[in-house]
Amino acid sequence: LPTHYTLPSGDKIPAVALERNQVGEAVKTALKAGYRHIDGAWIYRNEEEVGQALQESEVPREEVFITSKLWNTFHDPSAVESALDDSLAKLNTSYLDLYLMHWPLAADKSKKGYNASLTEDPYPTWQKLEEMVEKGKVKNIGVSNFNVRRLERLFSKPLKIQPAVNQVEISYHIPQSKLLAYARSKSLLLEAYSPLGGDGKVGETLKLPVVKKIAEETGMTPAQVVISWAVQRGVVVLPKSVTPSRVVENLQVQALPQHLFDELEEAATSHAPYPRLNPSKGWGLDFDIFDGDE
Ligand code: A2P
Repeated sequence: LPTHYTLPSGDKIPAVALERNQVGEAVKTALKAGYRHIDGAWIYRNEEEVGQALQESEVPREEVFITSKLWNTFHDPSAVESALDDSLAKLNTSYLDLYLMHWPLAADKSKKGYNASLTEDPYPTWQKLEEMVEKGKVKNIGVSNFNVRRLERLFSKPLKIQPAVNQVEISYHIPQSKLLAYARSKSLLLEAYSPLGGDGKVGETLKLPVVKKIAEETGMTPAQVVISWAVQRGVVVLPKSVTPSRVVENLQVQALPQHLFDELEEAATSHAPYPRLNPSKGWGLDFDIFDGDE
């Protein structure tokens, strides 16, 4: 399996990352185990802790691929740079390897409303992100939770810098085949969050007969089977765990024999997709953030 993919900038991105929603010791365990890709976000409110763990790990900064995300309340072009500076300061670094728009939603600071024009057209925010690359504060930029309709909108603009990745929920339950095909057509890498199934569905994923069967045949654990399948599909995988043995286990992936890969791909793409994480209602939006998807 590939250990890295290449971004439009020529930078290499490690194929398996630690999602650092819950951190501290997990980051240190991960760096010790050989992870060199840490995926986080301003909104996780733990960037200081991550910065400290990175420092204490003594792994040189340039060896670690660090991602953060612009929160919804900072989409106004005038708010982007200070939001990024805050993440940089907390992470105690002068640059990020990757900076993503966390959601295609330009929310008001009050959290009550949103800027419809910036939500529908992320280009002004994107231009500011491009400026951040030019200033050397971030090496690559991308988006998260964009569906095909929203990506098409962004790609229709005169982009100076191509989006490097789109980070979305991808798992057995929601394999995102159409989005993946679209992304491939644009040389856009997809990153999978909740790759084991996400909240409440991990146990179910790891007990699926097809996953268990492949695990037995290959000597891998069920988690390694689904993570390997994702990397084999060309996706960056962001498993999260605060359990040291699992952090280690999740990095040890290997290619599935083609017929077993095909079997899992077929099983994942032939059932109706399960409901995915969708905060539209929780955020009180009067539209669905994934509108336009079937
Ligand atoms: P824990 O953090 O207690 O180790 P997802 O990335 O799909 O959202 O899944 C995250 C969940 O999956 C976490 O609750 C995590 O539990 C659990 N998990 C992570 N890796 C493994 C693994 N290798 N085996 C079993 N469960 C795992």
